[in-house]
Amino acid sequence: MAGKNVITETLDNTNGNGSIVLATLNRPDALNALNDELMDELFTVLDGYEKDDDLRCLILTGSDKAFAAGADIKQMQPKSYMDVYKEDFISRNWERVASCRKPIIAAVSGYALGGGCELAMMCDFILASETAKFGQPEINLGVMPGAGGSQRLTRFVGKSKAMEMCLTGRMMDADEAERVGLVSRVLKKENFLAEVVEVAITVAKKSLIATMMTKECINRAYETTLSEGIRFERRLFHSMFSTADKTEGMAAFIEKRDPDFTDE
Ligand code: CAA
Repeated sequence: MAGKNVITETLDNTNGNGSIVLATLNRPDALNALNDELMDELFTVLDGYEKDDDLRCLILTGSDKAFAAGADIKQMQPKSYMDVYKEDFISRNWERVASCRKPIIAAVSGYALGGGCELAMMCDFILASETAKFGQPEINLGVMPGAGGSQRLTRFVGKSKAMEMCLTGRMMDADEAERVGLVSRVLKKENFLAEVVEVAITVAKKSLIATMMTKECINRAYETTLSEGIRFERRLFHSMFSTADKTEGMAAFIEKRDPDFTDE
């Protein structure tokens, strides 16, 4: 699964409960600017992750200085409208992150700007180091967010904050990002990745079926009305009564022991 722009490592520290993938964006000279090659590699990594039943949670991270400083401006600068239209720029490979059915945690240190912020928002939740800085500075380049920022940021933080961020291009620090609900938690920079791995282990230990259905259900909240979302949730919840993991999880609680989930 490894490439030069996205380095992957499999961590087997869930005590026999499957493995975690640590996927690290690796274009240090460009602050992990997201070019086509990198996004194609990430696409391949996610395909491999989704296909391998032993892999139960993926952490997407960057360097201490930058999660990603945006789409690659040098690659975009010469492109015309017909170039980006014909190659289906962004839709072709970026959306793979949002369509992944298994859990992805974004672990953000340093800059998450433009496409970097949008990439983090495509993940299931964002854990931020206290060094993290988020922003949608595309307005400074004479353009606007193009990988979902105008839509996802608005859903995360509301109209006023999203509008201000996108119209001024200013950066938000980690504390502000937590306060407004963009990130789930801010963690100390010293043990940042180790703490993220602990969270990933917690996710990896659950029933993968329940995890995937929960993810599908929460994402549905962004796509539909409340009554349809609740109907969708109820149907999935009912369907879980056909799984061995539901029987095992509830039996383990009653018998005061840890559950042994089999993803069936
Ligand atoms: N694309 C291409 N290269 C980038 C880049 C980007 N988004 N961001 C940084 N780099 C490159 C710089 O050009 C520089 O390369 P050179 O050494 O060859 O000159 C290298 O990374 C280091 O960057 P800086 O010297 O600028 O580092 P800094 O610490 O002084 O500043 C920064 C850091 C504030 C993040 C600054 O690099 C910056 O503003 N980057 C651009 C951020 C941006 O505008 N992002 C939005 C991109 S558009 C987009 O993402 C569209 C979309 O919605 C999909």
